[in-house]
Amino acid sequence: MPALEARHLTKHFPVHQIGPSRTRQVVHAVEDISLALPEATVTAVVGESGSGKSTLARLLTQLIAPTSGELLLDGVPVGSSAKARREYTRLVHLVLQDPFSSLNAVHSVRYHLERPLKLHKRAGRDDLDTKARELLERVSLSPSERFIDKYPHELSGGQRQRVAIARGLAVEPRVLLADEPVSMLDVSIRLGVLNLLDELRERERLAILYVTHDIASARYLADTALVMYAGQVVESGPATQITDAPAHPYTQLLLSAAPDPARTEPPVLRGRGAPPSLVNPPSGCRFHPRCPFAMAICKEAAPPPLPVATDQVAACWLHSAEHTAPADPPTAAGTGADL
Ligand SMILES: Nc1ncnc2c1ncn2[C@@H]1O[C@H](COP(=O)(O)OP(=O)(O)OP(=O)(O)O)[C@@H](O)[C@H]1O
Ligand code: SF4
Ligand SMILES: [Mg+2]
Repeated sequence: MPALEARHLTKHFPVHQIGPSRTRQVVHAVEDISLALPEATVTAVVGESGSGKSTLARLLTQLIAPTSGELLLDGVPVGSSAKARREYTRLVHLVLQDPFSSLNAVHSVRYHLERPLKLHKRAGRDDLDTKARELLERVSLSPSERFIDKYPHELSGGQRQRVAIARGLAVEPRVLLADEPVSMLDVSIRLGVLNLLDELRERERLAILYVTHDIASARYLADTALVMYAGQVVESGPATQITDAPAHPYTQLLLSAAPDPARTEPPVLRGRGAPPSLVNPPSGCRFHPRCPFAMAICKEAAPPPLPVATDQVAACWLHSAEHTAPADPPTAAGTGADL
């Protein structure tokens, strides 16, 4: 049973109208996404800027309410009472992109770690110091006395991100949602933080959601990958399978934007067009205006998720037996077309 499961999550943000027009418009940021986060696994969510990755992560933390859909924790639908929300906040922890803004500059590392231990009664007065030091050891900030009385500005970006993760571990979560946790870090320390997430997955049996625009790091870290385009999941499956044999033309486009370890910004993808407006998303398959394989059906009907290999599904009509594939279809053999 997954630690956390989302069923048919949808989020539409209302657009504030300026001027006389009274038509109600919405941003279709997340559309009908279901996913499961089993314990001791990393699930990557990959996609371009604006594809809805952070909105999905915020829905999973309950920071924002879904337009529709539900969440289940250990198979039980999440309740709406204050007590249920408190417990949910303890069990599902969000790690933010910017470790500096997630720590309070006027407080020491000790304060950041002891506060949740006290608030959630995870330590008494006598063992507060020991428990705080243990947390630092768990994120490999060792020996702990070198770090415990430092302030955020005295730490490197990677050390700050480790403190932010340690603070989350203080309340013994089941699920860690990491939204681009390394994209603001220096290239030389990114791998260390990714390796820490991997260790936590194994040692603490955490279910981890890893949000990234970098499909190469998803392959490195994740067991499973979900590729998002314009608010929808277009392909999902084992991370190695998705990167070795991408079946959706958009996944192929993502892979063709060769990973560059020195890059801090999301890549501007080569190829036709740009991501669509999420206020009026394209009809049918949302990728059709950019897709070199688009057929008549693609503009008319949204493709359902179709099986392409064991545990791998792609929402693309090319993989439906009813539709004739073009002469050079995107196969599972490589990145396919020159997009
Ligand atoms: N509070 C909001 N109100 C209106 N629109 C929003 C709001 N939050 C997000 N959006 C819109 O939802 C869409 C998805 O945004 P989101 O931040 O989830 O994308 P993302 O994939 O995380 O992008 P990035 O890689 O740049 O972080 C975007 O079009 C964004 O403008
Ligand atoms: S459904 Fe059609 S437009 Fe969409 S990715 Fe597949 S071939 Fe391209
Ligand atoms: Mg984001």
